[in-house]
Amino acid sequence: MSENKDNGKNTENFHEYDGIIEHDNPLPTWWLWSFFLTIIFAFIYFLHYEIANGPTLTDELKVSMQEIEKQQAVNVTSSPTETEDSLKEAFNKDGMLNAGKALFESKCVACHGPLLQGSIGPNLTDKFWINGAGTRMDIVKVIRTGVADKGMPPWGSVLKTEELYAVAAYVVTKQGSNPPGAKAPQGQEAP
Ligand code: HEC
Repeated sequence: MSENKDNGKNTENFHEYDGIIEHDNPLPTWWLWSFFLTIIFAFIYFLHYEIANGPTLTDELKVSMQEIEKQQAVNVTSSPTETEDSLKEAFNKDGMLNAGKALFESKCVACHGPLLQGSIGPNLTDKFWINGAGTRMDIVKVIRTGVADKGMPPWGSVLKTEELYAVAAYVVTKQGSNPPGAKAPQGQEAP
């Protein structure tokens, strides 16, 4: 201890050596509380994961993956509540065409062309269909399940149902649009 240079605070508790003063101020309350909270958190964490066998990250991942797989299975098999009329109604909802156009441009143009005129995949604007006869049900079905051995990917596991409807709605609006450079008809002419 040496003489007091602490402006009157902590008159007893400081120590000076070579002109360097060591104070003994209390830690700020907010700091102490965050320190205590980390100790409490660590204790609860330990109890939950080590003693009470709480789920590890791997367990949580497994559960989430199962949910995703279940959802995908639902999307790939056609939903039993769909009818031509229910699809017509769903396709007419606000914003469907804009969403469908954006989806088509990001996921489908590579194979069907920007005007749906066809390139690797068939022309989607004519009356000729390889799969089904161009009804809303047929179009949703082929987009959802794909045609594995012909190179059309299944989108049911990639797109949500609403997105699937949106992109199908966009395809429907392009019927008869007669784009330049259209690919020759493939499949059967729809009645
Ligand atoms: C990797 C290339 C590829 C991509 C990407 C692709 N398609 Fe296809 N699509 C095909 C091929 C190839 C066929 C023809 C399948 C057949 O011969 O049965 C096809 C068929 C179709 C058909 C049925 C046409 C008919 O005449 O039966 C529709 C509708 C369709 N695609 C929509 C889409 C939509 C919508 C997307 C984007 C979400 C998409 N496709 C993305 C390659 C693709």
